[in-house]
Amino acid sequence: MLFKDTFVDHPSDITHRGRILTGHRPTGPRHIGHLVGTLENWARLQGSYECFFLVADLHVLTTDYDHPARIQANILEVVADWLAAGIDPARSTLLLQSALPEHPYLMALLGMLVTVARLERVPTYKEQAQQLNLQPSLGLLSYPALQAADILLYKATAVPVGEDQLPHVELTREVARRFNQTYGHTFPEPEALVSRLPRLPGVDNRTMHTSYGNAILLKDTPEDTTRKVMSMYTDPTRLHATDPGHVEGNPVFTYLDAFDADEARVEALKAGYRAGQVGDVEVKRHLAQALNDYLAPLRQRRAALMTRLDDLRDVLRAGTYRARGLAQATLAEVQVKMGLR
Ligand code: TRP
Repeated sequence: MLFKDTFVDHPSDITHRGRILTGHRPTGPRHIGHLVGTLENWARLQGSYECFFLVADLHVLTTDYDHPARIQANILEVVADWLAAGIDPARSTLLLQSALPEHPYLMALLGMLVTVARLERVPTYKEQAQQLNLQPSLGLLSYPALQAADILLYKATAVPVGEDQLPHVELTREVARRFNQTYGHTFPEPEALVSRLPRLPGVDNRTMHTSYGNAILLKDTPEDTTRKVMSMYTDPTRLHATDPGHVEGNPVFTYLDAFDADEARVEALKAGYRAGQVGDVEVKRHLAQALNDYLAPLRQRRAALMTRLDDLRDVLRAGTYRARGLAQATLAEVQVKMGLR
């Protein structure tokens, strides 16, 4: 069992280890990779950190500025998924980036301390610039500077992120250091908290991505889920159910390890699969059932939330309002130190 031990109950006397700021770009509904890799971890961290969860809608525009129609709906989808996965607005602050002008303002000020050459070396920028057919924009180049502003505005001490985001946290630490050296101690150097869990592959064994059509979404119906599982990539070397099968690197078994609480059953399936006694269809049927069982309570909470969209908006509005006081205080401090007030 790789991903179990989630949703532990938190003691009411929260021991604050510091402040977290993390977030997602609202690119669409969240999938099971987000759940086991990220959201279950965030939900747990609420017990020991003061948490800020950012809906980074400005960041969406860095690559998708020409699809404005989708953003508003995606914001609510993401908030619904977060809450259904255990993000608790009574304990944590959910905030909307574009509603707080302090974010881009702080980016503009921190931008004085970051060279263009440094930003051009960020691996995510290099990749995106290669993939885009257009000349990369100023917005794309400054993506990590905006992320640094998101984090430093709240003086976060820890940033739980996936491995792909580490270069952005590293840049944030450099900016904090340079600011502190120049103007006196102001920002903690935030620490990246990287999830050690292996990444869940998509149903086609590529990286799981909403835009690749290979993701099982938290909002999918049990029927959608079963259909996707039954079409999953398995062991390409196995032509007949009686051929010995490979379990390692087979996404069906990676999923079973993650979602089937019955470890003895999973081990028995693995043994049978290796021996050529258990076929793909049988394993997939087990998986579809296990996955739907695992997701059922979350999906029930999510369906209830989606009937109360005004409440979802209120959660984000209230969190953004709460965040604003801190954001304004930090920005004012930075303005004074940089000679603007
Ligand atoms: N870049 C992050 C991602 O794509 C999203 C993000 C924006 C973020 N601002 C942040 C993550 C601040 C952590 C902290 O996943």
